[in-house]
Amino acid sequence: MKYSAQHYAVNQAADCLIVSIFEEKNLSQSAVEINEISDNYLLHLVESGELSGKLGQTTLLRNMPNLAAERLLVVGCGKRGELNERQFKQLMQKTAQALKETQAKSAVSFLTEIPLNQRALYWNIRFAVETIEQDLYQFTQFKSQKTAEKSTALSEVIFNVGADELASAEQAIQHASAIALGVRLAKDVANCPPNVCNPTYLADKALNLAETSPLIKTTIINEAEMEKLGMGAYLAVSRGAHNEAKLAIMEYRNAPNPNAKPIVLVGKGLTFDAGGISLKPAADMDEMKYDMCGAASVIGAFAAAAKAKLPINLTAIVPTCENMPDAAASKPGDVVTAMNGTTIEILNTDAEGRLILCDALSHAEQFKPAAVVDVATLTGACIIALGHVASGLLTNTQELADEILAASRQSGDKAWQLPLFAEYREQLKSNFADLQNIGGRPAGTITAAAFLSHFTENYPWAHLDIAGTAWKSGKEKGATGRPVPLLLQFLRNRAE
Ligand code: BES
Ligand code: MN
Ligand code: ZN
Repeated sequence: MKYSAQHYAVNQAADCLIVSIFEEKNLSQSAVEINEISDNYLLHLVESGELSGKLGQTTLLRNMPNLAAERLLVVGCGKRGELNERQFKQLMQKTAQALKETQAKSAVSFLTEIPLNQRALYWNIRFAVETIEQDLYQFTQFKSQKTAEKSTALSEVIFNVGADELASAEQAIQHASAIALGVRLAKDVANCPPNVCNPTYLADKALNLAETSPLIKTTIINEAEMEKLGMGAYLAVSRGAHNEAKLAIMEYRNAPNPNAKPIVLVGKGLTFDAGGISLKPAADMDEMKYDMCGAASVIGAFAAAAKAKLPINLTAIVPTCENMPDAAASKPGDVVTAMNGTTIEILNTDAEGRLILCDALSHAEQFKPAAVVDVATLTGACIIALGHVASGLLTNTQELADEILAASRQSGDKAWQLPLFAEYREQLKSNFADLQNIGGRPAGTITAAAFLSHFTENYPWAHLDIAGTAWKSGKEKGATGRPVPLLLQFLRNRAE
């Protein structure tokens, strides 16, 4: 889809105009103008109740009297006044769906008139582009018939803005396009089936990124090298798998000061989590292909940051492997030694994410990070705590959490902080090793983060548990691309 911002008049020629109306017979400014040109056509429809203005109602009109545009799409915005972000996105989604039904190749949107809660026009346009891109996304790589039923004639959306708003509108389009690129990449790798998307596949994605920019360098660490580095916790997870574990490291260097400490993103990349010997139940086990969504979002955000040429130093660490039951697999009761020397009693082989992350987080130290943010589908308990609405956020540095929460509010990609009090570490005490890898039922998301906190003491660190937000189940099963919008906002804020 091509997006642009222009100053348009309602009587100019176009494939399709999009205008908003409100409830209680209230027309937006451009709807008033169209109504005047068309001899009260719109008001007649409002009076007859045909156009209610109800939030998300879309009505396609053709051959409007005296209008040069071929089509007019009228979108209901509810009660007159400011819309919140959620309402605006709902209405944009309905608009995108309605546009897909038409044969219009391009559309001119006057929805830029809609005032958004405490937000400038930039956000109206940015959320519009993000929502349209979300709606148009399809994953057809594994369909034999590629001519998808959802395909659309639409190839261009033009946002109507005043002459003085052009610059910020164009910036909004640019920023939203970067987010869309990252989200698309994250969704594509995450939706990919686990017999194709294995650790080597993810490592290849990381290698491919290095070919897109001279500012990116990718290194892949294989199991023999992990052995030398002493990554005993990580290797313990991969033991039962036939596909070799791969640790991908991507470095993007573009800060004004080349020696500036990098931001390090770490993404959990279990391309399949069967649970290992602590095998998961069969129901919905296919969804554990999504246990690499942390990795997917880190790769997506990294690619988007590089595409946007953000003036930052950024490192992405992506530990990938499979967690499988096998004669060679780790057993409950095994004690392993992590890269930093900590011994860990593995009481449940299904608590594997923290085992691969702890070694990846130790490895992060060598990059002398300004901050480390790890992203992981780490605990089912996070779904119990926060549902599918907010990602869980835990940290050892409140300023970093505040930064991430601010980026979350800006981007609309919700996150919520949980405490990481020292008391929670008690639940990880083992009779046989320094730590055990599970902390019992109470506060499962927190004890998982408390486990990780043993390996992040030497830098500011935040952890995002995306178990509830990374994908949707049921009829709409598919990756969401979250938290790419949040991560990119965080990086953009750091760049400024
Ligand atoms: N990948 C899962 C967490 C998960 C489960 C994410 C369901 C999304 C949906 C993780 O590896 C896991 O199995 N965690 C266990 C930890 C427990 C054994 C302490 C869990 O949450 O049950
Ligand atoms: Mn698991
Ligand atoms: Zn897992």
